[in-house]
Amino acid sequence: MSIAQTLLRSRAAAALTAPHGVDRYLEQINPMWAAHEVRARIVSIERETHALDDPAPVATITLQPTSTWRGHRAGQHVQLGVEIGRGVGGARRTTRAFSVSSAESGPGERFTITVRANPEGTVSKHLVHDAMPGEIVHLSQAQGDFTVTPDRGDPVPMRLVMVTGGSGITPALSMVRTLLRQRYPGRVSFVHFAQSPDHQIAADELAAISAADNGVDVHLVHGELFTAERLEALVPDHRSVRAWACGPAAMIELVQEAYDDLTVDGTPADRGGEPLLAVEYFKTPVLDTADAEGTVSFSQSSGAPGAEGENTGATLLEQAEALGLSPQYGCRMGICFSCVATKSSGTVRDVVSGETSAAPDEDIRICISQPVGSCQVQL
Ligand SMILES: Cc1cc2nc3c(=O)[nH]c(=O)nc-3n(C[C@H](O)[C@H](O)[C@H](O)COP(=O)(O)OP(=O)(O)OC[C@H]3O[C@@H](n4cnc5c(N)ncnc54)[C@H](O)[C@@H]3O)c2cc1C
Ligand code: FES
Repeated sequence: MSIAQTLLRSRAAAALTAPHGVDRYLEQINPMWAAHEVRARIVSIERETHALDDPAPVATITLQPTSTWRGHRAGQHVQLGVEIGRGVGGARRTTRAFSVSSAESGPGERFTITVRANPEGTVSKHLVHDAMPGEIVHLSQAQGDFTVTPDRGDPVPMRLVMVTGGSGITPALSMVRTLLRQRYPGRVSFVHFAQSPDHQIAADELAAISAADNGVDVHLVHGELFTAERLEALVPDHRSVRAWACGPAAMIELVQEAYDDLTVDGTPADRGGEPLLAVEYFKTPVLDTADAEGTVSFSQSSGAPGAEGENTGATLLEQAEALGLSPQYGCRMGICFSCVATKSSGTVRDVVSGETSAAPDEDIRICISQPVGSCQVQL
């Protein structure tokens, strides 16, 4: 760290610049100067998919982060905030999570994210269609343990399977790019499901990887949905190999079924065995709403009218939105904590971990909380 950075991060600098903090002043001089926060300049935006009538095209966005970026491990994601709506009552920062798609980065190094433009989405549509090189975005440090090296220093297994669908390819691309750069001596089976060749992300690069003698077997499956039989045919030894899967929630459910109760050393999962398969969801998993019962009621701390309705079994965030409320949210996946609210009573299930909790007056993330019976929440 340079002397200037040490000074800028000192308590004296914090005291002198209170209450706004050093970064508010540095940003005024140069948006790429920061002592604590991480920001990035968009360097380029390259279209990845080429289907003419595609309502959700994908683009890869190259970001030059500030020197405060500490780097990422393959498979991790960042929370990225964009200022949208400049001029209409002032810009509002909206934040979403995106996996880093490029090979592992070091402090201050450029990296890419690969984004599908959700036609009704706020941030993805902005990044793919409206953002321009030069725009500054706000970042978190890299997060998440969906990596091939869960603890820094752990050796990468000598045999890996990656199963991905659609834009879920992004963390796996970072893993494969990293392993190839590190001249990984093991063997990887990379199985990707896309709608068609025109919807294929990183098509040329994957073709080149497939043609080379580098230990990576690429299987691109176009126009078919995932089935256990297809996986069995493509990767016959998959039941004894550690696997990473990322893609649409419905596909991940099927991959999870294909891996049943398989664990790394054969110890049953309910006796502490580590699952053979690691999964990453971009959206909450498909919820079983068949047995939903009771009512959900929301009161608003702002004094605005609350709402009450039949429990539909959806997440509390979705149920609040369906009742016409607009609670704050960011990632909608339990990562950013922007949707935390107090549950006054009732039991909720965490839709990612499956755990339930019934404690009264507890703070919960409503985006991943499914009410089990009646539930009261203060938004
Ligand atoms: C760990 C992680 C990694 C991810 N990595 C990637 C990646 O690499 N690439 C990628 O493309 N995506 C990735 N995502 C998904 C990404 O974070 C966003 O969810 C996605 O881009 C859509 O965001 P958006 O702002 O465009 O859409 P949003 O504005 O959040 O809208 C998403 C959907 O919710 C609906 N919705 C929004 N507000 C309401 C409301 N008030 N009422 C009812 N419905 C509503 C919209 O209609 C839309 O269909 C990742 C997510 C996670 C959790
Ligand atoms: S919206 Fe991010 S944790 Fe709920």
